Amino acid sequence: MSSETPVVGIIMGSKSDWETMQHAANMLTELKIPFEAKALSAHRNPVQVHEFATTAKDRGIQVIIAAAGMAAALPGVVAAVTPLPVLGVPIETRVMGGIDSLLSMVQMPGGIPVATLAIGKAGAKNAALMSAAILALNDNSIASRLDAFRSQQNQTEAQLPL
Ligand code: RP5
Repeated sequence: MSSETPVVGIIMGSKSDWETMQHAANMLTELKIPFEAKALSAHRNPVQVHEFATTAKDRGIQVIIAAAGMAAALPGVVAAVTPLPVLGVPIETRVMGGIDSLLSMVQMPGGIPVATLAIGKAGAKNAALMSAAILALNDNSIASRLDAFRSQQNQTEAQLPL
């Protein structure tokens, strides 16, 4: 993690979500975007979640990535008390494969949006890339690094192992 002031806040409902969310962290690191990461549950740590979300903007955070599994209330709870864009990552679960997390997260009532991504690793990685795209609107250096990543990815995907 960079020593610069974090501009992305990653919050997840449990330490057990880190296995998935490390992919978001890795992508942000690759793009040199400073971030912070915390494990706080909407249900087990409601006071700390409220503190995190209500202070995020003043601390310099511009985008929040919120990940949770099962009854995945965390992204919606965070979105309810911050004006910042909130990207939701549904964690894959043992009983329902993450469909429980996805539906809990994506079915927000009109008025409080959560931009929900794919279940699991792909969602975590894409949440980082979506954060980069949002930040790139006002940051040319991030825009350049995101362009370079996309260009490199394009070259890599074009090479078949024939
Ligand atoms: C959710 O419950 C967390 O986001 C996690 O995905 C799930 C299970 O949490 P643990 O019992 O592993 O702490 O709140």
